[in-house]
Amino acid sequence: MSPNPEAVLSVRDLSVSFRTDARTVHAVDHVSFDLAAGEVLAVVGESGCGKSVTSMAVMGLLPPTAHITGSIRLGTRELAGGDDKAYGKIRGKDIAMIFQEPMTSLNPVLTIGRQIGEVLRRHQGLSKKEARARAVELLDLVGIPAPAQRVDEYPHQLSGGMRQRVMIAIAVACDPAVLIADEPTTALDVTVQAGILEVLQSLRERLGTAIVLITHDLGVVADIADRVLVMYAGRPVEQAPVDELFATPRHPYTRGLLSAVLRPGASAASDGGGKRRLPEIPGLVPSLDSQPDACTFAPRCDRADERCTTARPGFKSVTDDAGAGAPHLAACWHPNTLQEAAQ
Ligand SMILES: Nc1ncnc2c1ncn2[C@@H]1O[C@H](COP(=O)(O)OP(=O)(O)OP(=O)(O)O)[C@@H](O)[C@H]1O
Ligand code: SF4
Ligand SMILES: [Mg+2]
Repeated sequence: MSPNPEAVLSVRDLSVSFRTDARTVHAVDHVSFDLAAGEVLAVVGESGCGKSVTSMAVMGLLPPTAHITGSIRLGTRELAGGDDKAYGKIRGKDIAMIFQEPMTSLNPVLTIGRQIGEVLRRHQGLSKKEARARAVELLDLVGIPAPAQRVDEYPHQLSGGMRQRVMIAIAVACDPAVLIADEPTTALDVTVQAGILEVLQSLRERLGTAIVLITHDLGVVADIADRVLVMYAGRPVEQAPVDELFATPRHPYTRGLLSAVLRPGASAASDGGGKRRLPEIPGLVPSLDSQPDACTFAPRCDRADERCTTARPGFKSVTDDAGAGAPHLAACWHPNTLQEAAQ
């Protein structure tokens, strides 16, 4: 994939490994994607496939034990290899992240107004009074009732859903071009989750924020994503516009995931709360200790042949009409044909 000059975020061949005394874990292995202004890219895949490490790498938040290669371009700026000082200038201003568990990310001893205001004062040089007034506006933007009162409350005085809204307010305080949301609704119940998704939708529509949304919930993907990137064992396996991916998944792994979820009467993916979560598919996820010159899905794939176990498939277009619409990419030697995929 060549870099897309239109993209607000362009990630190319991003690889992250962690070296310990005993072994090297290849957590992310040549991941590439683009994000356009106002676009929502969902990143899905089983636990441990590298979703969070990818986003932490983009945010420059990985520990020093991480070895990072590849390119992460935010507009025209290259972020990969940047130090804390370089990231300090853009984190919270041009690119921001919301985490799964808001209670651990908020400071319990500061009012929420202070916490929102700190970002505004640091990056926009607002006075204390201006920052407080803007914090009230932001709380209103993310749907917190009576924001002028709430602004002086502490995190423990708010519900889980409201705390997550505060996290979003902090993240969007400086109107970042890119927002990364790592499982932003997993800890919340279904109705609260719907409200949070509405907030993300409206941010995208009103501010043109581009969003990377990491989720296990395919219902959320169907509702909000424009495109989907599917990861498996640290590698990208398929990427397509959301409707196309759901209608015609070309990679056997994606097909396995979706057929279990979307099949009429399927129960495997319901967690009882109405969420369509990624199901378990048979077989073990490979260890991340090596980077085999093979398809890592081969041990679980009923289409695997010798080529699959001796050569790594590239992440390539699977459509014949190259250039028409957003690309549909898959890393597979024998992707499903359109006819097979539609069945
Ligand atoms: N600091 C670290 N040191 C060593 N290995 C790590 C470190 N952080 C993550 N890993 C490993 O990297 C791999 C990818 O982890 P990651 O957190 O990205 O998974 P994930 O896709 O976000 O999973 P989940 O859906 O459970 O959140 C895992 O095998 C994990 O154990
Ligand atoms: S490359 Fe081979 S083993 Fe891997 S998903 Fe495709 S068909 Fe299956
Ligand atoms: Mg994660």
